[in-house]
Amino acid sequence: MIINGPNLNLLGKREPKIYGSLSFTDFLEELREKYANLQIDHFQSNIEGEIIGQIQEAGFDGVYDGIVLNAAAFTHTSVGIGDAVAAIETPVVEVHISNTFDREEFRHVSFISPNAKGVIVGFGLQSYELAIQSFF
Ligand code: DQA
Repeated sequence: MIINGPNLNLLGKREPKIYGSLSFTDFLEELREKYANLQIDHFQSNIEGEIIGQIQEAGFDGVYDGIVLNAAAFTHTSVGIGDAVAAIETPVVEVHISNTFDREEFRHVSFISPNAKGVIVGFGLQSYELAIQSFF
């Protein structure tokens, strides 16, 4: 399960120098073709509580082998999303498209990382693919 946070619905249009010019819909189509044997679900929201709800829903009873989470700006602010990641059973890999450590200092902080299985940062959209590969 891929969970994307705020403004990631604008990928392709949003600051392409940082985030690239491919939309997430097109990227997801490529990913699903490449990994046709996997069920890759996707959820995106600009609303913090909806992301928490989705993490809870996907996080128990082995429904998913793993969650790939790009909480976007909420990564750096949300105790609630960090707590949701700590609360669930399903392993979470935190991803970021850009290298957040090469950017403003407020992006160096993550409320997700302490409870994530691992963190993949700065490989563009390939960060998502590397995260998926980490589950097999
Ligand atoms: C991001 C990095 C965050 O700092 C930023 O707020 C985003 C995207 C990334 O994927 O590079 O929206 O999570």
